[in-house]
Amino acid sequence: MDSLSLTASSHVLVLTGAGISAESGVPTFRDAGGLWEGHDVTAVASPEGFAADPLLVWRFYAQRRAGMVGIEPNAGHRALAALEARLGDRFLLVTQNVDGLHRAAGSERVLELHGNLMTSRCTACDREPFADRTAYREGVLPLCGRCQARGRDALLRPHIVWFGEAVAPGALAAASRFMDAAGRDLIFLQVGTSALVYPAAGLVEEAGRRQAVRWSVNVERPANARHFDRVVLGRAGEILPELLGVGP
Ligand code: OAD
Repeated sequence: MDSLSLTASSHVLVLTGAGISAESGVPTFRDAGGLWEGHDVTAVASPEGFAADPLLVWRFYAQRRAGMVGIEPNAGHRALAALEARLGDRFLLVTQNVDGLHRAAGSERVLELHGNLMTSRCTACDREPFADRTAYREGVLPLCGRCQARGRDALLRPHIVWFGEAVAPGALAAASRFMDAAGRDLIFLQVGTSALVYPAAGLVEEAGRRQAVRWSVNVERPANARHFDRVVLGRAGEILPELLGVGP
């Protein structure tokens, strides 16, 4: 079986997508039966959609929140957490996932590029995004308590990056700094993403410009497969423990 062949100076930058959570029971977006099947993406995942029908958008995310009850990290998440425990600051995980499963598995050096499903924020004031499972009650648009205390009504929204919005501020710069620090010792590992959404799908090219060894793990070839040195086909939960040499 393949292995990343880590040395004492290897730095590993990982990009994950919905595929790594599939074996935990979280639906992906674009596979058959995925989240975007049967949904108008613009209606539920864009600022325009939220402006047009915030209740529809809240219903969609409330359903996704409810769907996370009882969901646990799988062997793929755990393998990445175990690798981080070994590498420390020579490890960085950038995820497009909003499900929080990497942190639940013990990962700490995690950048959530597309936000977090269990977090909300105000559409008007600058309060920090906050952990939230309960603000939305069926049919009632949740308002910001802080704004209400100041005499105005402002909607809360899920802390999710929607189409047309910028990814988490600072995340890409942090990934670039990590790659700079790695020098010629960079390994780039992309897991479980169709690689159709930018800027995440472009990270491999940035890694390539820095001579990184680039691995993809996915059940199918991702859209950016041509940029990889090794394309491993298979399920993340089965492949990663062995590939990373951290056991099941
Ligand atoms: P996609 O649904 O586009 O792609 C998931 C990928 O994972 C597909 O290539 C699957 O073949 C693969 N896959 C499925 N099961 C797998 C498994 N067990 N092991 C390994 N791979 C598996 O999801 P993403 O690429 O994450 O953005 O989508 C990117 C972004 O598009 C999401 O973050 C989301 C979406 O619109 C926002 O919501 C902003």
